[in-house]
Amino acid sequence: MGFLLSNYQLTICILYFLIFCLSSSTHLCHNDESTALLQFKQSFSFNCSACNFDVGAPFADNWKEGTDCCAWDRVTCDNTTSHVVGLDLSSNCLYGTIHPNSSLFNLVHLQHLDLSHNNFNHSQILPSFGRFTNLTHLYLIYSHLSGPIQSSKDEVWQGNNFSNSIFHLQKLQVLWLGGNIELIGELPNSIGQLEYLEELFLSFCNIFGTIPTLLGNLKKLRGGNIELTGELPNSIGQLEYLEELFLSFCNIFGTIPTSLGNLKKLRMLDLGWTYLINGQLPSSIGHLKNLEELYLHDCNFSGMIPRSLTNLTRLIWLDLSCNNFEGPIPQIFSNFSQLQYIDFSNNQLTGPISSPITGLPNLQYLDLSHNSINGTIPSSLFHLLNLTYLDLSSNNLSDTVELDTFAKLEYLNSLDLSNSGLSLTTTNSTPSSFLNIRTL
Ligand SMILES: *[C@@H]1O[C@H](CO)[C@@H](O)[C@H](O)[C@H]1NC(C)=O
Ligand SMILES: *[C@@H]1O[C@H](CO)[C@@H](O)[C@H](O)[C@H]1NC(C)=O
Ligand SMILES: *[C@@H]1O[C@H](CO)[C@@H](O)[C@H](O)[C@H]1NC(C)=O
Ligand SMILES: *[C@@H]1O[C@H](CO)[C@@H](O)[C@H](O)[C@H]1NC(C)=O
Ligand SMILES: *[C@@H]1O[C@H](CO)[C@@H](O)[C@H](O)[C@H]1NC(C)=O
Ligand SMILES: *[C@@H]1O[C@H](CO)[C@@H](O)[C@H](O)[C@H]1NC(C)=O
Ligand SMILES: *[C@@H]1O[C@H](CO)[C@@H](O)[C@H](O)[C@H]1NC(C)=O
Ligand SMILES: *[C@@H]1O[C@H](CO)[C@@H](O)[C@H](O)[C@H]1NC(C)=O
Ligand SMILES: *[C@@H]1O[C@H](CO)[C@@H](O)[C@H](O)[C@H]1NC(C)=O
Ligand SMILES: *[C@@H]1O[C@H](CO)[C@@H](O)[C@H](O)[C@H]1NC(C)=O
Ligand SMILES: *[C@@H]1O[C@H](CO)[C@@H](O)[C@H](O)[C@H]1NC(C)=O
Ligand SMILES: *[C@@H]1O[C@H](CO)[C@@H](O)[C@H](O)[C@H]1NC(C)=O
Repeated sequence: MGFLLSNYQLTICILYFLIFCLSSSTHLCHNDESTALLQFKQSFSFNCSACNFDVGAPFADNWKEGTDCCAWDRVTCDNTTSHVVGLDLSSNCLYGTIHPNSSLFNLVHLQHLDLSHNNFNHSQILPSFGRFTNLTHLYLIYSHLSGPIQSSKDEVWQGNNFSNSIFHLQKLQVLWLGGNIELIGELPNSIGQLEYLEELFLSFCNIFGTIPTLLGNLKKLRGGNIELTGELPNSIGQLEYLEELFLSFCNIFGTIPTSLGNLKKLRMLDLGWTYLINGQLPSSIGHLKNLEELYLHDCNFSGMIPRSLTNLTRLIWLDLSCNNFEGPIPQIFSNFSQLQYIDFSNNQLTGPISSPITGLPNLQYLDLSHNSINGTIPSSLFHLLNLTYLDLSSNNLSDTVELDTFAKLEYLNSLDLSNSGLSLTTTNSTPSSFLNIRTL
């Protein structure tokens, strides 16, 4: 009897245990998905020397047949349906081809897919990616993908007609394909219909497009990095969520539309090395009050530096070098508590550095070289105690300064005054605080 009872109790125990297990583990992987994952992994060799990238976070190799794939490393399941919705195999030394029959494409519930930094041996981005209709995040950067960005054929699978390109994945919020230099093609118009798209990274590919095509409805776009050509259209002002606009090295031409000033969320604007810009920097730039980084070097801007720039008090980095800006240097030398870097070199700026330099506690880099700045150096310049780089060379200054004065700037490690017009006087004593200079 005692034996029976304890057996009975044992059964109850096991039952409770099972119930406990089932209710506490919210996931239990679907068999077909666990098989698909294993097959996908087995279709690659792990060859880190083929990837040329630092290996990412170590892969806890707990992908074992018969275990719950929702508990596997780098796999995420939906809490209620237990379908695999996330797969992150970035930087995993995967080496091999993604074939059209790859079991990856059975994981149709995926919402996040990251296969970046692997070597897919010139695989193409197949139409089968169109099966991931719920995909919101797709990262495929630096993974040796090649071929056209969209195939010429649609694909029929399980009775459904999948459109031929990832640019039809209606829920996409993040699309990173950059760093696959063999990926070629023109951005299709349909990209303008990805109404939820927030991030688009297509640089270092051979993907191109014209800006008006792209803009369409991408109102949610926060940042992008695309090799675009063409004129910046007025409609750029509609991208009201844009936080970063990176168009450097692009074939942008024409004038900068005033509507640029509508991009109130912009933190970074980079038009560097675009050369072909004609005309002035619109004064509406002064509306971009969140701007922290402004790179407008090598753009062929002409005219005056707009006075409204003084409104951009959050600036950290300001580079207007190598343009044709003329007229006086703007009075930006006050109240920029974050500003660390100013480069106005290689313009045609004239007149004196008139305003006292105040409220730039963090300024480290100041380059005013190759202009026609005249007059004297305001003594407040020597209060920029954090300055490490100062270049006033090739200007028309007329002042006599004691070299020792510069020694007050104790962190200075580069000082160029050649051809600046300054006359330096020296006393015999070697200033003891002139310690950090490396270039003079
Ligand atoms: C690993 O990749 C390198 C470079 O592509 C190649 O030379 C080597 O043969 C590969 N090794 C294996 C085991 O596939
Ligand atoms: C799923 O459950 C985990 C743990 O309870 C929780 O951290 C996570 O936010 C949930 N995910 C979703 C999508 O509800
Ligand atoms: C990579 O592709 C080449 C040619 O397309 C092929 O010969 C080689 O076997 C492939 N390597 C792997 C690991 O798939
Ligand atoms: C998938 O296709 C490739 C090439 O077409 C073939 O080598 C491989 O055996 C196929 N795999 C499966 C699981 O059918
Ligand atoms: C896609 O998401 C919708 C809404 O969440 C859901 O009803 C549908 O089953 C999902 N489809 C797939 C293939 O996961
Ligand atoms: C898929 O649908 C598109 C239009 O939605 C159509 O043009 C195309 O012919 C269809 N493809 C197949 C293989 O049915
Ligand atoms: C640079 O701007 C000037 C006008 O300021 C224009 O005449 C010239 O064509 C521009 N250069 C290029 C390469 O567009
Ligand atoms: C600069 O700021 C002032 C005061 O906030 C404002 O009146 C002016 O319109 C701003 N200028 C621009 C171009 O944003
Ligand atoms: C700088 O800030 C001070 C105090 O915050 C203010 O009185 C002054 O008007 C500001 N100067 C400029 C040029 O904005
Ligand atoms: C130099 O920088 C430090 C740290 O950013 C700051 O605390 C200090 O006030 C600065 N010095 C001057 C003279 O502005
Ligand atoms: C510099 O000033 C001198 C005389 O003050 C003038 O002759 C010369 O043209 C000026 N050079 C430049 C580049 O402005
Ligand atoms: C600086 O140059 C301007 C013309 O560019 C001239 O009017 C002014 O007198 C010059 N100032 C000095 C101090 O040489």
